[in-house]
Amino acid sequence: MPSDQPREQWASRAGFILAAVGSAVGLGNMWRFSYLTAESGGAAFLVLYVGITLLVGLPVLLAEFALGRGSGKSPIGALAHYGGSGWRPLGWLFVASGFLILSYYSVIAGWTVRYALTALLGSFPEDFGGFFERVATGRSALAWHLGFMVVCVAIVRGGVKAGIERTAVILMPLLFLLVVGLALYAATLEGSGAGYRFYLEVDFDELGDWSVIQAAAGQAFFSLSLGMGCMMTYASYLSRDEHLPNESLFVAFSDFAVAFIAGLAVFPLIFALGLDAEITSGSVGTMGALFITLPKTFAEMGGAGHVVGVLFFVALVVGALTSAISLLEVVTATAVDGLGWSRHRAAALMGALIAVMGIPSALSLKVLGFMDQLAGNVFLVGGALVLSLFVGWRMADPMAEVRRGAESTTWFGLWVWLLRVPVPLVLAVVLVQSLRALLPG
Ligand code: PHE
Repeated sequence: MPSDQPREQWASRAGFILAAVGSAVGLGNMWRFSYLTAESGGAAFLVLYVGITLLVGLPVLLAEFALGRGSGKSPIGALAHYGGSGWRPLGWLFVASGFLILSYYSVIAGWTVRYALTALLGSFPEDFGGFFERVATGRSALAWHLGFMVVCVAIVRGGVKAGIERTAVILMPLLFLLVVGLALYAATLEGSGAGYRFYLEVDFDELGDWSVIQAAAGQAFFSLSLGMGCMMTYASYLSRDEHLPNESLFVAFSDFAVAFIAGLAVFPLIFALGLDAEITSGSVGTMGALFITLPKTFAEMGGAGHVVGVLFFVALVVGALTSAISLLEVVTATAVDGLGWSRHRAAALMGALIAVMGIPSALSLKVLGFMDQLAGNVFLVGGALVLSLFVGWRMADPMAEVRRGAESTTWFGLWVWLLRVPVPLVLAVVLVQSLRALLPG
């Protein structure tokens, strides 16, 4: 029995925007962005990521906002609302993505909590690479992963206003300021030039490299929390009169800005501190890029580094938390709306299942890396493909929903056209390539 309680709404427009930015900005912008950029050739990856975000990500983000607000429902209900109940199974794909992503995302968030505590106690050992290896897998990784899931469940049980909105409003601006500060600090260091070159000088041959294109597409969707109904669910708690195109621009721009500026900090730092060999060829590989570089940076900064380090890792924990709760919210809202469960029960049961699913990722970096590729390049790209086709071809009048709260412009026509032809084409090609790359044989 679907629940018939009145639907909860965001307390303010700023609350919605910050929560949406909170979902978008997280480990994806810092950990995932820096490891993929390091792995996929630097500037070429950056250019492709920006291009795909603008031409493919932004239209899909607006599509999710329109579907969510228009239907006032979580993904499965939203698809059924506009497309008929035959579309429901596709909503389950989104829920599956939520399960998959949160299961390993929480492991990385666990590393982040461990780093924040170590920074607080001032007890990073000299050997930053070795420390990362010890934190990243095994029993301690597992324990922090489980602990982190408990916190997520506690917040999501509280509902959107008390739980999610309040947390995001306070700490997201702090994270942004710290990242800008780190980028400025990196610019003062000798030897940072090689980092800027790696990050910003494009090798045009690599622009056509399929593995770089896949990675960039997966990252565009992962970073914007797209292709799994997350932005749709958040928009379902929105009132009628918001300007959806402006909000999607704001969310996409903020998300991009954090990732880009994080890169302006991380790559110059890697080169200035002489960590490039360790990160590109070390046994833990590029996945440790952020976690090896930053503690070393903070150590080099002396006393001030201690304070900056604590603030940075605490803010990163918050970034991870606001994203993780958005993932759990999709799964919880679906169970509340679709199965008629109470919010408390849905959050606890789903959270427990996800925690168990994350165990293999906590025990092996290889598994974690595989899950991450599968989630970004297959599930999110596939989900976005279906969404663009749905809004472009199946939804009766997608522009009508966007027009509520926004003046109609020719831009809207372009939006629907993008969703109909170019966006699905790009996504279908990327999806086929990603499946070929991931499946054996
Ligand atoms: N966008 C989040 C991040 O960058 C991760 C995320 C992906 C959250 C998909 C929700 C849905 O960290």
